[in-house]
Amino acid sequence: MKNILNAQWIKSPKTVIDREIVFSKEFKAEKEVVSASLEVTALGVYLARINGERVGDFILAPGWTSYKKRLQVDTYDVTAMIAENNVITIGVGPGWKASAYFGMHSGEWQLGFREMAAICALTIKYADGETRIITSGGDWNCENGKHVYSSLYNGYIYDPAYKDIFPAKAQVFEKKRDILLDRQGEKVVEQERLEPKEIIITPKGETVLDFGQNMTGYVEFKIKGNKGERAVISHAEVLDAEGNFYTDNLRSAKAQAIFICDGKEHIHKSEYNFFGFRYIRLENWSDEVKKENFTAIVVHSDMKRTGYFECSDERINKLFSNIIWGQKGNFLDVPTDCPQRDERLGWTGDAQVFVKTASYNYDVERFFTKWLADLRADQTGWGTIPHVIPNVFEPSDDCSSAWAEAATVCPWQLYLTYANKDIIKDSLESMKKYIEYIDENSYGGIWDRGWHFGDWLNLDGSSPEDCSKGTEKGLIATACYIFSSDILAKSMELCGEDSAEVKAKREESILAFRSKFMADGRILPEYETQTACVLALHFGITDNAAETAKQLNELVAECGHLKTGFVGTPYLLHALSDNGYAKTAYDILLREEYPSWLFSVKMGATTIWEHWDSMREDGSMWSTSMNSFNHYAYGSVADWLYGDAAGIKTDESKPGFEHIILAPLTDSRLTYVKASIETRRGLVKSEWKTENGKTEYEFTVPEGVTATVILDGKETEVGAGVHKF
Ligand code: BGC
Repeated sequence: MKNILNAQWIKSPKTVIDREIVFSKEFKAEKEVVSASLEVTALGVYLARINGERVGDFILAPGWTSYKKRLQVDTYDVTAMIAENNVITIGVGPGWKASAYFGMHSGEWQLGFREMAAICALTIKYADGETRIITSGGDWNCENGKHVYSSLYNGYIYDPAYKDIFPAKAQVFEKKRDILLDRQGEKVVEQERLEPKEIIITPKGETVLDFGQNMTGYVEFKIKGNKGERAVISHAEVLDAEGNFYTDNLRSAKAQAIFICDGKEHIHKSEYNFFGFRYIRLENWSDEVKKENFTAIVVHSDMKRTGYFECSDERINKLFSNIIWGQKGNFLDVPTDCPQRDERLGWTGDAQVFVKTASYNYDVERFFTKWLADLRADQTGWGTIPHVIPNVFEPSDDCSSAWAEAATVCPWQLYLTYANKDIIKDSLESMKKYIEYIDENSYGGIWDRGWHFGDWLNLDGSSPEDCSKGTEKGLIATACYIFSSDILAKSMELCGEDSAEVKAKREESILAFRSKFMADGRILPEYETQTACVLALHFGITDNAAETAKQLNELVAECGHLKTGFVGTPYLLHALSDNGYAKTAYDILLREEYPSWLFSVKMGATTIWEHWDSMREDGSMWSTSMNSFNHYAYGSVADWLYGDAAGIKTDESKPGFEHIILAPLTDSRLTYVKASIETRRGLVKSEWKTENGKTEYEFTVPEGVTATVILDGKETEVGAGVHKF
């Protein structure tokens, strides 16, 4: 990024909301060009073209950051695109910056935030050594584009025949350039293409196409239609109990792609929007509906796939596939809660419970490094972490435990998986400020002030709609503090700082937790829940793990299933299997009646659901108020599949898989398990299979890596190579 700093910000001279603006400029390259590069960004999402050809493949560029403080700039090599006579266009759609009601807000605050603009510099080097720099400015043309409507939640209307009859010159305006930075994250690109599996005529008589997979992206379609016809594609994740197209769970998001036919044939796809869907419904479609005219294009951040898991139970394999699809569907530049309804936000709690799984499934180092920079940018002066990053809920000083934990847990996980020490250094001040905020809001080591989501969506509350009732919020918050301050202490030590004070406060908090919520290693009856036991165990709070684990095991046995929500679920199986109850962990994992992971699999899910019963046995739905079928949070169980079923564990003292613990947990209901993780140090594999009551293990340890194999309590040290036991 260089010449863009001398360019001018341009916007439309008209008030343009909820539609595309196109800036353009013609120029001649009089001499032989040796190189040309384009630096560009926008407030909104941009699509640059030179001579009609798309520049780069970044979808929804420049991505989503905390725009007031950080805006990414992309630099493209466009040498091959320059001809003698040229026209460069930069289309800008509202995107995350300026879409109607984005962030669940309406009204003035959002309106004040809805300006779209662009800034760019095209640097051309000629063969004779001369450099020409074309920058955005008042000499650029500006007109309304053919996307006559666009907003992330509602979708868009595209009119190929539209021509702005009042084009004008762009308006220059002053805006600080110190928010500009070179792109930090992965770009979002088109990934796989899926053909429709089936054309369905629903009981209501509607024409619906099923792509067989819930996903995030858009549909490319061939269309002719009759002139003036408004062909409508609506998107849905599921069909209802009767088999009809179901969109109630999208809440206010219309999620439609509307094409105004001009009687000519077009192949069209979205440019500024994305949808979460498996099914599409066609309305006003006068062309014959043929499968080959529709292709779903999956889009997500361009992360490299690193983790694989397979076992003898096809249901678990499907669950694992659903987890992968959950990550693809929600890692679209920022980690979102869901990709379909009028939300699609970077909820911190969801990200922190899933980050470990995410970092095994894919290489997410760059993805999270960018998001964590936004987290730090949006952290308030008094240390609180907003619920969503980038923060669109401002102004607010709410700071919920377990959600705000993203500030400590995410950097720490990048350190564990990738040995990334820089992220710890970069995050240290933010972690300290967050822990100081908790200290100031705690009394005698117990953090029970402020707003907390609690064990969100758990099944302990008196009704499933009591999303945050159940486990005592002060218990959860205090446990989270104990967990986070442990991460802070370790991070300080890594950075050569003295952590004694943090540790002392943590100790005080542990004692306070035990005396307020526990007696003799058991959670007191008035606080007793599965999640309470899980946290006391997994965060190392209990002084009698055997007794707490026994209590947890009893609680599971009593009802025969899990009851945990967002806070307890990620650690439930770990808390059991780490403390001698591997069989109970497998019981929970392999159960297919509600509530369980496999219930959704049994119901035909292709992604992870928000609720244990997003859809019920009879096909009825959880309330329309909040029901996503693509919510990755509970997919965090994959870290147990990798780490326990297959037994691949990182060693905190030698992060980045420099030393690995290999300790698989077998179960008689599975005959084999295979997992692999492509680590920065090479491929780590763990496989076991049981035949005639005999289990064989095979581990692959990459060059330069050591491992401790733990089988039946016996430890064996091994080096690189393939090892059989
Ligand atoms: C989101 C969640 C999020 C929650 C906060 C919901 O609307 O979809 O996943 O964490 O709000 O509790």
